[in-house]
Formats: sequence, C-alpha cells, structure tokens
Amino acid sequence: MNLKIAPSILSADFARLGEEVQAIDDAGCDYIHIDVMDGHFVPNLTFGPPIIKSIRSWSRKPFDVHLMINPAQPTISAYADAGADIITVHAEADKHLDRSVHQIRALGKRAGISLNPGTPETVLTYVLDQIDLILVMTVNPGFGGQSFLHSQIDKIKRIRKMIDGRPIELEVDGGINIETAQLAVEAGATTLVAGSSVFSAEDYAERIHEIRSACNQ
Ligand code: DX5
Ligand code: ZN
Repeated sequence: MNLKIAPSILSADFARLGEEVQAIDDAGCDYIHIDVMDGHFVPNLTFGPPIIKSIRSWSRKPFDVHLMINPAQPTISAYADAGADIITVHAEADKHLDRSVHQIRALGKRAGISLNPGTPETVLTYVLDQIDLILVMTVNPGFGGQSFLHSQIDKIKRIRKMIDGRPIELEVDGGINIETAQLAVEAGATTLVAGSSVFSAEDYAERIHEIRSACNQ
C-alpha cells in the first residue's frame, strides 16, 4: 500500500498561504487538504473558492477539498472551477447525497463523502458505487489540534470491509500524529490528513517522513 499524506492548510500561516502550499508540496505531501468551513455547519469560518483559486498555482498536487458547509450542493461547481480535484461533502450536511456525488463526478472531479464521529457508516451503503473517497472524521470538525477519537477505529475497520475491493480511498482526518497515524492505517486507512502535526514541525519534510515511517510506509 502506498500511504498518502494530505497536510491540512487549516494549520498553515494564512498570511503566507501560497508559500505554505508550496512548502508542503516540496516536503513530499501527496495532496493539499483544504478545509472549507461556513460558521454554520461547523463553528468556525475559513475560506471559499476565491482563496482556493489564488493558491492553485502554488502546487500541481491534487487539491483535496473538504466541504464543511451546509448546504454544500449549490456551491459544488464553484469549488470545481476554483481548482479542486477531490470534492468531499458531509453526509450530515447534504440532503441529496446521491445527487451531490453524481454532480461532482459530472464535473470531472473525484467525489468524497465525509462522516462526523457520531454518524454511522450505514449512510454509505447505497452510494458506495458512486464515490472515490470516504473521509472518516476522527475529531468533531471545526478546529485543528484536537485529540484523536479512538471510538472511530472500529468505524474505519467496518468501512474497510464495506469497500470490499472497490477503488475507494479511505481517508482519516483529525488528531493524526505519529502514534495515531499507525492506528488509523492498521484499521484500514489509505490516506491521512495531518494539520497541526505537520505545520507545527520545524521541518515539514521530516515530519511527513516520520508519519510514513511510523506506519511502515
Ligand atoms: C477539522 C479539519 C481537519 C483538521 C485537522 O475540522 O477537517 O482537516 O484541520 O487538523 P489536525 O490534524 O490538527 O487535527
Ligand atoms: Zn479536513
């Protein structure tokens, strides 16, 4: 397995966002994880399509856009236009999940669904053949730097079984550090989001390398 590391720019220095995106690209990340928050679905507000568009030219790596907004569906095409490669919507925020994932794919982007810690994996049952990525939240979304919720390990394992050979990435987001990365990968994760643990490091490349080696990758 080739573990993918997706640093979340939520923990970057926003005053130097373009340079920070370039720095994690140079440090060997696989994706640029972009947390979009609306102050409504989650109690925090970040950025939207214009800022994503303005940082697009700082990296050629895929933009992994995690929409923590409600409703998400009316804005999907704006994120596609801004340069997203993967667009992930929350199962709890979207009334018409099947329609949203079809729309994301119709725009030529990869479609993801995210689940809050309190949401059971069964909501995925009838959309499994429509999606490219499942994002399991291991913190309650809204802020970086929170502690990993060990209750989600069982959910990651169950989802790994549900995927049953389909070409679906299993991404884990929240509280990932050198210790918890290993737990998530053992449970079946293929992609790890890491915000504060990467951006708090002196050397981003070294931290990304440490996370990979902790998972024997
Ligand atoms: C939380 C975001 C995460 C967050 C992760 O709402 O979706 O991507 O930035 O940050 P850490 O790795 O610091 O928990
Ligand atoms: Zn995220």
